Amino acid sequence: MCGIVGYLGKKSVVPVILESLQTLEYRGYDSAGVAFLEQDCLNVYKASGKLNNLRSRLPVELFQKNGHSRHLGIGHTRWATHGAPNDETPHPHVSCDGNIALIHNGIVENFGELREELTRKGHIFHSKTDTECVVHLIEDLAKTETDFLKVLQQVTRRLVGAYALVIIDKRHPDKLYGVRNHAPLVVGIGDDELFLGSDVVALVEHTNQVSYLQNEEIVELSPEGVKVINFNGQPVEPLVEKISTGNLAVDKKGFKHFMLKEIYEQPDVLRNSLSMRLLSPEEPIQLFDEAADAKINEIERVYVVACGTSYNAGLVGRYFIEELVRIPVEVEAAGEFRYRNPLVDEKTLVIGISQSGETADTITALRQCVNKGAKVLAITNREDSTIARESHFVLPVRAGIEVSVCATKSFAAQVTVLYLLGIYLAERRQQSSPELLKSLKVGLQRLPVLVENVLHTSEEIQTLAKKYGNVRDLIFIARGINYPVALEGALKLKEISYIHAEGYSASELKHGPIAMLDPSIPVIAILTDGIVYDKMISNCQEAKARDAQVIAVNSGPMPEDVRDTFEDAVFIPQLEEMLSPILTVIPLQLLAYHIAEYLGKDVDQPRNLAKSVTVE
Ligand code: G6P
Repeated sequence: MCGIVGYLGKKSVVPVILESLQTLEYRGYDSAGVAFLEQDCLNVYKASGKLNNLRSRLPVELFQKNGHSRHLGIGHTRWATHGAPNDETPHPHVSCDGNIALIHNGIVENFGELREELTRKGHIFHSKTDTECVVHLIEDLAKTETDFLKVLQQVTRRLVGAYALVIIDKRHPDKLYGVRNHAPLVVGIGDDELFLGSDVVALVEHTNQVSYLQNEEIVELSPEGVKVINFNGQPVEPLVEKISTGNLAVDKKGFKHFMLKEIYEQPDVLRNSLSMRLLSPEEPIQLFDEAADAKINEIERVYVVACGTSYNAGLVGRYFIEELVRIPVEVEAAGEFRYRNPLVDEKTLVIGISQSGETADTITALRQCVNKGAKVLAITNREDSTIARESHFVLPVRAGIEVSVCATKSFAAQVTVLYLLGIYLAERRQQSSPELLKSLKVGLQRLPVLVENVLHTSEEIQTLAKKYGNVRDLIFIARGINYPVALEGALKLKEISYIHAEGYSASELKHGPIAMLDPSIPVIAILTDGIVYDKMISNCQEAKARDAQVIAVNSGPMPEDVRDTFEDAVFIPQLEEMLSPILTVIPLQLLAYHIAEYLGKDVDQPRNLAKSVTVE
């Protein structure tokens, strides 16, 4: 987590850095800070809380675009891993002699022993963060080595952990340094200006020429250009790429929040995800080139590894792929998977699902699988991400940049791609009847318009949000392929309203959770026409018999005689049960949104969270 940026150029540095940091706030917003050189002075400003707090702390003259004396600087927006967010913990951290300022994304695992060693040597620490030891370490090593790149090389030998570092040193006033080890860092190359950033979104306002640093690389940016070496000191030729900046634009487009805008973007997202892959219901799905086709079709089992919302999307994928392809599919939280020596081999397809492509647990789990010889497929929204780069195959979900921490459209896009993958595998293996596959393809093509219909329930859901928004607990139930949607509904609500919510399989209700039920705990039930509809109705009646207020999200018509089981009901269009999660999730996204909005919560930047979790 944490967003880091660095700038070396002719513009006034503070506005450039703050604009770039703004685009990285999704990576954390516990605190922010900037450091820049002005003549021979290193200036540092920090503030706890969001970027706006920092902005209001900065002298107004720093925002003058013609502040020509300030060309080199760094900035940081933080998600706290060590040390509570306060005025000492924000980065940049500065060396005792006041020469060096450093920002960091990641975790230095051996910071305790380094801190002890450096304290013994006389360094004074001002915070309890892991990062601060790095700046003192650099200072210490720079006492005996004047070549700063060599100093950084020595530093990497002492650090254990994952880190991206950006550093400036007063004694090198026209140089910006970066170090990458298992945390992303991108170089931006503009006209007479150079950038460093954790993500290209921080650079696209300024340039479309970028170079992704690889693991174990150190970069020196200067008016002479970009110099890269690896941790052994060998020079590396940077690969400069031209990126398309259009789909990286960050704009609310008139919506009050990014989350609402992103919910409403879902019809177009689905069209994008399906485009060129599903041409017509009569034609087979095209996902890979010939070579990849052959390899992927050798597989005998599937593992899905992911975190958070992406994990819930994976659960939907499991139901779908197992049903259609008749091969075992297991889904596991990446942070658990990686610690249990999983049984994967060359016949296993491991699918890593990640919106950001930078989630540390997912990256580590996938790396393990690559090392074990499995075939690794990334389903991601970021083709430029670490996960995409390190996987054998990539299926981009094409959701466009997702800014709100609470993921919505990326879930729809991930599930759509899993549907396409399931049908693709079933077609190649001749599993499932052609009629079933054709009807699913017809259903997929109808999805964007059906989603548009479901979005019309927003006002109705806003009314429900006011009715139920003051509860302390809320339960979501569903069965079958919609069970993951119950989990996702609960996750959305917890994330942005801080209401305690749980998702259960409705069949499990009577094995424990039913004991909690009373009129104060609403139960939201997802009912879709299919094999579990009647069972769901029975489960809802069991809940109502315990005085719970049951609210239905019902796809298709509801039999008259069960209508009075429900205190309220939201009706959405009918669709094949296997495809229904894309529709049923929308009322739950809207409910979470409207409740959070009604309660006055910070919808796009909920407390304690970050969009991209780059620490384990
Ligand atoms: C964080 C975000 C979640 C997201 C999860 C996985 O926790 O707040 O919204 O689902 O990370 O992220 P990924 O980028 O791997 O999908």
